[in-house]
Amino acid sequence: MNIPETVNILLIGGGAREHALALGLSRSPRMGTLYATHMDNPGIATLAQPVDIPVLGKELYRLVQFCDRVDIGLVVIGPEEPLADGWADQLSKKADGSPRLVFGPGAKGAKLEADKAYAKQMMKAASIPTAEGRVFDHFSHVEEYLKTRDEVYVIKATGLAKGKGVIVPDTNAEGIKAAKDMMEKRAFGDAGKRVLLEEKISGTEVSVLALLDGRNILVLPPCQDYKRLGDSDKGPNTGGMGAFCPANTISDKIMKQIETDVFVPIADVLRRDEIDFKGVLYVGIMLTPAGPKVLEFNVRFGDPECQPLVTRLESDLIELLWATADGTLDQVDVKFSPKASVCVVLASKGYPADPESGAVITGVEDADAIPGVTVFHAGTKLMENGFLVVAGGRVLSITALGDTIEQARDLAYQAVEEIHFEGMQLRTDIAQNAPVHS
Ligand code: AMP
Ligand code: GLY
Repeated sequence: MNIPETVNILLIGGGAREHALALGLSRSPRMGTLYATHMDNPGIATLAQPVDIPVLGKELYRLVQFCDRVDIGLVVIGPEEPLADGWADQLSKKADGSPRLVFGPGAKGAKLEADKAYAKQMMKAASIPTAEGRVFDHFSHVEEYLKTRDEVYVIKATGLAKGKGVIVPDTNAEGIKAAKDMMEKRAFGDAGKRVLLEEKISGTEVSVLALLDGRNILVLPPCQDYKRLGDSDKGPNTGGMGAFCPANTISDKIMKQIETDVFVPIADVLRRDEIDFKGVLYVGIMLTPAGPKVLEFNVRFGDPECQPLVTRLESDLIELLWATADGTLDQVDVKFSPKASVCVVLASKGYPADPESGAVITGVEDADAIPGVTVFHAGTKLMENGFLVVAGGRVLSITALGDTIEQARDLAYQAVEEIHFEGMQLRTDIAQNAPVHS
């Protein structure tokens, strides 16, 4: 791997995931200057320098020029939207046409997340185990189809819908209503004009992430996340209310199976289609009685899965992301702490439907000062008067390392006790009673 002694990095994205990445990158002795597009995240702001030009998708040449001017050696793209919009394609070339390393796939690779119909087609092409699915372009056809079925189907908007475009109904009548909202009322805009109807499957869910560099696959320790808002998986789907790593719900044998049955064939199909995927592929898996099945692909780190992963990482994050972007993953060693990490998300009043901003947050410093605890910022804002206030749906990610999952969980919830803001929502059962599969 041909990596300079120090690297200037541009980090794109402003959530707790990117705060965690910023912290991980900053810990590397190879860190030159970290520049960030989202300095409004108070956590990122303490670690990075601002990008001093407007960052706009339709004027991306300006960001290319900025990268040239401050000698960015590696661009790290956190969220799915800029990936789907082809930012990696554009930023991977300097203004003079010479190459620059970017962690994150181009638009073609990002389609695995941005277009669920395409993802399903790729899974079929690669013979990857997944729930049966059918794509529909007209609501009347969905209605007709569901009316003739006894078994219940999951309704998925095929486009990007900020994690909200999947409805798991109890009855097909409910499913018909959901499809109508998506296809006719455009509840998720264009993302829902096409829907995927999927066989409803059940089992424990795990998030398995791997780094892909175009040639090599490096599978990361499995995580489990909690998508529903309330304890015992009640309430609406969210972006994620907590996570832990490593997920004791999954055995080494099943991890191996996922590598050979999912990552290897999808990497082959990507190569066959000449899609140069350099970044992280996140596979949402359901452990069904018939074996692991893929629920979804994401082309970025999970949020909150990234927070426990980065917290456990002992290797150099810059080297790891550099090697991914450079196609030299076979030359790096990756080491994770044997400790467990648990992340509890604190969300604002009204989240996910209608998050309220403005409540004053106290106790972050006290929580962060607890040994083993790191508080990552997402929807927070530092006011001129020094108050930290709520400024989004998912507000903070409280992440703790412990010798066991139980210890990490206790520590995370102990830190949560320190933090207060009006209307704070959280789950109290993160990393609790996880069943073990073998
Ligand atoms: P996705 O964004 O595709 O992962 O879907 C969000 C959530 O919906 C998943 O984490 C599952 O809990 C649930 N889900 C998705 N697909 C299915 C399915 N085919 N059967 C049952 N639940 C599903
Ligand atoms: N934790 C779910 C996601 O990042 O999509």
